Amino acid sequence: MSIGLTQRVFSGVQPTGNLHLGNYLGAITRFVELQNTHECIYCVVDMHAITVWQDPVELARNTREVTAAYIAAGVDASKHIVFNQSQVSEHAELAWIFNCVARMGWLNRMTQFKDKAGKDAEKASVGLYSYPDLMAADILAYRATHVPVGEDQKQHLELTRDIAQKFNNDFSKSIRQAGYDDGFFPLPEPLITGAATRVMSLKDGSKKMSKSDPSDLSRINLSDGPDDIARKIKKARTDPDALPSEEKGLEGRPEAANLVGIYAALAGCSIKDVLKDFGGSQFSTFKPALSELAVEKMGPVGLEMKRLMADKAYIDEVLKDGSQRARAIAAPIFEDVKRIVGFIRSK
Ligand code: TRP
Repeated sequence: MSIGLTQRVFSGVQPTGNLHLGNYLGAITRFVELQNTHECIYCVVDMHAITVWQDPVELARNTREVTAAYIAAGVDASKHIVFNQSQVSEHAELAWIFNCVARMGWLNRMTQFKDKAGKDAEKASVGLYSYPDLMAADILAYRATHVPVGEDQKQHLELTRDIAQKFNNDFSKSIRQAGYDDGFFPLPEPLITGAATRVMSLKDGSKKMSKSDPSDLSRINLSDGPDDIARKIKKARTDPDALPSEEKGLEGRPEAANLVGIYAALAGCSIKDVLKDFGGSQFSTFKPALSELAVEKMGPVGLEMKRLMADKAYIDEVLKDGSQRARAIAAPIFEDVKRIVGFIRSK
């Protein structure tokens, strides 16, 4: 038996609040596209969220909000799978096994932990440290082969591959005995979101748009109405020059490049195309056009999210159904894992 060629996509978004245009253009629209070519599993990673303190009421609200965002953006939860991590216990169980496969030295190199834990790493949760092992478990619990993520998650994907490889090596004999001749876990490929869809802060073109930026003017939230969107674009930082007509004219102009990039992503065209239309224009012309486009594209998503959020029962049903279907894939894989590791399975 071999792993086979099913191309299975897995990705996750943390329910930590303030979903914004960066999450939408950088991740969620990508998830939507992949539905046409792959079998997709999209997770709301509530267990990752609690690696830093979350208010319980907010966590539940934010979990529903990410679910609503997936659906509002066009993820088809009946053809593919949408669920929250904590409802499929295989994630946590496999993460434990991976805690025993991954090496301290590997985790010590993770830059996200260093950034998030900051100077006072002694006070960071143990979960924040072992976070990448849980992420590897998320992906490998389904033997997913492709993982759309941003640049910042590339290192965690490499760790996932290292874990898969070490598991395949350490247990090669019992993996063969279990009937698999070319390893048990695939080495999943990252599908890295390109720089074009990397959305930067509206206040500082050198920083990523972020939910934790203290200035709400730095980001367009998915929950923003048309007036907020227009106001934020109007106030977005720019430089005094007109837009260039060639892409290389955007070099050294991070704010201009960001706004043009956002326009291109929303319009579904290239930066070149945008500059063909707006090269030579001042921001006083470009900003209202961007604003109109953003309202046209994001407005309906925000409204649909709001509508879905008002129907908790529906969202919870989507998550329940998704969890059941996710478990149906993960459970038999995990049964094999336990057998491979040497855990006794009572009949
Ligand atoms: N760590 C990812 C992030 O913060 C979220 C995540 C958790 C994830 N598990 C995953 C992404 C599995 C892809 C695959 O963005």
